[in-house]
Amino acid sequence: MIKAGKIRLFSLDRRQIMAILLSCLATALSLKIPLLLKQVIDHGKMLSRTSSLGQIGFCLLISSLLEAGSQYLLSLAGDERIRDLRLLLQEKLLRLPWNYYKENSRGSLFSHVLNDSSVVKDFTVSVLPSALVSLLTVAASLGILLGLDVKMTLVIVLTFALIASSAFPLGKINEHFAYQNQAKLSRVSADLDENLANIKLIKLTNAQAGVLQKFRGDLQDLFALSRKTDAVFSVTGPLQTVLTLAGFLLILLYGSQRLANGSLSLGMLSSFIMYMFGIISPINNLGNFYMSYAEARGSLKAISEILAQPDEADPGQELPKKAADLKVRDLTFAYPGSQSPVLRDLSLDFKEGAKTALVGPSGAGKTTLINLLTRLEAGYQGQILLGDLEARNCSLPAWRDLFSVVAQDNNIFAGTVADNLLFGLEKSVSRSDMIQALQVANLWPELDLDTQTGEGGWKLSLGQSQRLQLARAYLRDAPCLILDEATANLDPESEAKVSQAVDRIAREKIVIIIAHRLSTIANADKIYFLDQGQVQAAGRHEELLKHLPKYRAYVEDQLRPLESR
Ligand SMILES: Nc1ncnc2c1ncn2[C@@H]1O[C@H](COP(=O)(O)OP(=O)(O)O)[C@@H](O)[C@H]1O
Ligand SMILES: [Mg+2]
Repeated sequence: MIKAGKIRLFSLDRRQIMAILLSCLATALSLKIPLLLKQVIDHGKMLSRTSSLGQIGFCLLISSLLEAGSQYLLSLAGDERIRDLRLLLQEKLLRLPWNYYKENSRGSLFSHVLNDSSVVKDFTVSVLPSALVSLLTVAASLGILLGLDVKMTLVIVLTFALIASSAFPLGKINEHFAYQNQAKLSRVSADLDENLANIKLIKLTNAQAGVLQKFRGDLQDLFALSRKTDAVFSVTGPLQTVLTLAGFLLILLYGSQRLANGSLSLGMLSSFIMYMFGIISPINNLGNFYMSYAEARGSLKAISEILAQPDEADPGQELPKKAADLKVRDLTFAYPGSQSPVLRDLSLDFKEGAKTALVGPSGAGKTTLINLLTRLEAGYQGQILLGDLEARNCSLPAWRDLFSVVAQDNNIFAGTVADNLLFGLEKSVSRSDMIQALQVANLWPELDLDTQTGEGGWKLSLGQSQRLQLARAYLRDAPCLILDEATANLDPESEAKVSQAVDRIAREKIVIIIAHRLSTIANADKIYFLDQGQVQAAGRHEELLKHLPKYRAYVEDQLRPLESR
């Protein structure tokens, strides 16, 4: 398993080392073949020729078997590496603070999890081992050649050095292209994700043409980059081939001259040529190494940046089993990067067994307060207390277990109604429990447990998906139930049913309701009237109506018109 912060490009596990050893053995065997061939050509006796040929066959067979074993081990290491890398990234992506997802597009995160991990994997399990083996192969071949004929070897080394030096600038160019390519690919992925997520809006606003134009632009950027890469490499590729051929010619000329003056045998020349052919691909590997390294470094950087992000703060103090009231004291909060606080000096009490309503105009900070209570947002001043425990000192999972939140943004995912009901539940729940939950939320028999909800709950009506969230909250049975405009999409009749459901679920719980309907608010035990991030007044509906003209005006402007719709 890979551990966070430990991803290194230059690290080999036991399996990879084994694979490299096998490949080295295979190479050693195949390096013997030209020497045997030399014997076949130069030796006069038929018998020793046949035995050399037999040895060649044996070397070939064993070396291919070893190579096959090595390849299998490396592929296996690669499969494992990419599985672990992706898992590591997904784990990390589940632990990051909520703010991180607001700042980074999902599409580019997909791209890091899918593409960058693949580039890093390729480097560690394919490029690096093959470079090591290539290095050994080249070194061993040159060693053998030196033992056979020093002058001839020097000619070969010089020729190859000349060819290799032409490859270096190519590595630099490719590094640049590879980095840009990943960046552009991640943008394509981000746009694609956004387009599919917003397909309804796109259709209803007839935005296809604009969306397509933007996407075409992204693809065009990618295409322009590939075209540049293609142009550079279509010139340099053949150029390198010509250079290589010229080098060969040079070596052959020198060799044939040595052959003519009798200082080199035909068998020797043949084995030289074989060694030369044998080291072309290792030398190519080594030449491309820097290019691949640069690309992998770029991908690793993107991955490491994600892994280096701080997790959601989780100090880990467990919560006592006994229930307690929830209190907010002098709470002030500004969103990161913003100077002016959204909430200022709020003090509120949420009592067990009581329904507390948060009322106020849109933008007053009600949802922000809920996000702070549930610790989706952090970085507040003041206190959020459960009994006398401060929220930021408590274990995060334990704290979140305190709440069931039913919100306006749709929290339904693709699957069956039952899948949605069971989501995140650790206790076992029977079918009849689930049906009871549907009954409590007034969804039974309107929806069956096996009804498909579609992605984002697209196959349900908004009212159904809100009631489904309520049913889920019922099963979750957390001590605090929060409804943030949860009945906003319901007709008065279903709303009344949901209110009954809430009353049934709410017994002995802390209930926090944000609503725009008078009927919901009027029977709350306590109302906080929020405006511009501050508590303007608190009390029961009648008291507020009597004593707070601002509240009366709000009720008349905002709530009554809704009621009469
Ligand atoms: N992620 C955010 N970053 C910056 N400002 C935000 C963010 N979310 C909400 N706001 C701002 O905070 C204010 C309060 O928003 P919100 O809590 O959603 O209000 P309400 O739920 O009462 O309608 C608004 O002015 C809104 O623009
Ligand atoms: Mg809101």
